[in-house]
Amino acid sequence: MTIAIHESALIRHFNTRKEVLRAWEESIGCRFSPFRGFKMPDSRLYVEHPDFLDSIVDLIITNERHIFLRGPVGSGKSTLMLLALRDLPTLADRRGNKFITGYVGMTGLYEKQMAAAIADSLRVKYRRSWESTQIIDAVAQESLRRYVEEKCRTALFIEDVADNQEAAFHKLRFLADLPTEEMREGFTDALDEPIITLVMSGTAVYWNAMLSFLPQIADRTEPLDVPPLDDMKAREFIGRRIAYAQSRIDSFDPDSFEVQPFEEKAIVAINTAARGNPRDIRMLARGCQQVAAENLRKNGNPIVSNQIAELVCEAYATILREVR
Ligand SMILES: Nc1ncnc2c1ncn2[C@@H]1O[C@H](COP(=O)(O)OP(=O)(O)OP(=O)(O)O)[C@@H](O)[C@H]1O
Ligand SMILES: [Mg+2]
Repeated sequence: MTIAIHESALIRHFNTRKEVLRAWEESIGCRFSPFRGFKMPDSRLYVEHPDFLDSIVDLIITNERHIFLRGPVGSGKSTLMLLALRDLPTLADRRGNKFITGYVGMTGLYEKQMAAAIADSLRVKYRRSWESTQIIDAVAQESLRRYVEEKCRTALFIEDVADNQEAAFHKLRFLADLPTEEMREGFTDALDEPIITLVMSGTAVYWNAMLSFLPQIADRTEPLDVPPLDDMKAREFIGRRIAYAQSRIDSFDPDSFEVQPFEEKAIVAINTAARGNPRDIRMLARGCQQVAAENLRKNGNPIVSNQIAELVCEAYATILREVR
């Protein structure tokens, strides 16, 4: 009996809270919260980092180093990978080679799972019964064939690379070192450069682990730090999400847009507390929405003022510190 009363009180509380948030969304013409987390974020929500993206793509094109996209959780590593994956197939390197791309987004993989995931991502055929070594050999042979016959280099993107089993790394190392001596002997002049470029992602801690445990790969890999969003980009991040929730994203103009009901100073406060980390910006903006929604209920004003932002950032400071 007591439990039932508590439950209904709890449910009532959540329903009221939902209604309060909903009223705020409606008051600014949104169909849902601009700051909800999307499992598959729409690429129209992405704030571009053209210079940084160019530096990734340039490194891939010059083919001197593998790449490690380094950044804290939520800093945008996966998003940058998707942007680079979007651009690569349209480009060619100075020798006229084009690119074939593969993306391994799963982690926690064993050797054979890693081999299969790589083959799948590069659309290389193999048999289920094969050992991981056979699968990786098939990937190597097919990558070689694509390079020699189709003038296509391979760019292989591996997310959160250190979260895989150690044995899986030997497969990556083998691919990172291609072509083998044996392959080179067959094609004396054409094979004087790597045929597969690895683009890996992970945190700084994992990069340091890689330096000590896998120097063979790390020595030939360039770590690139994901840049934090500056205040202009944080503004665009919020502006895009509001436009998206208002179903106006298709006419979004990055050179001229509104961020109402956010005050400009509120966005600066949020971005400062988030240190330019998009995941944290979203979390703080959502916190601001909650406070503003309560205010709307009391006084009819949906504004996210600088004062609200300061309050929310203060309250979240401990959480953000702990997460970091
Ligand atoms: N440039 C961007 N523009 C808009 N949203 C972004 C951008 N970068 C990241 N985000 C958003 O921030 C969140 C975190 O980004 P992402 O998943 O790319 O980070 P990550 O570094 O890969 O995080 P994790 O360490 O959890 O894998 C996602 O909701 C993503 O959509
Ligand atoms: Mg990620």
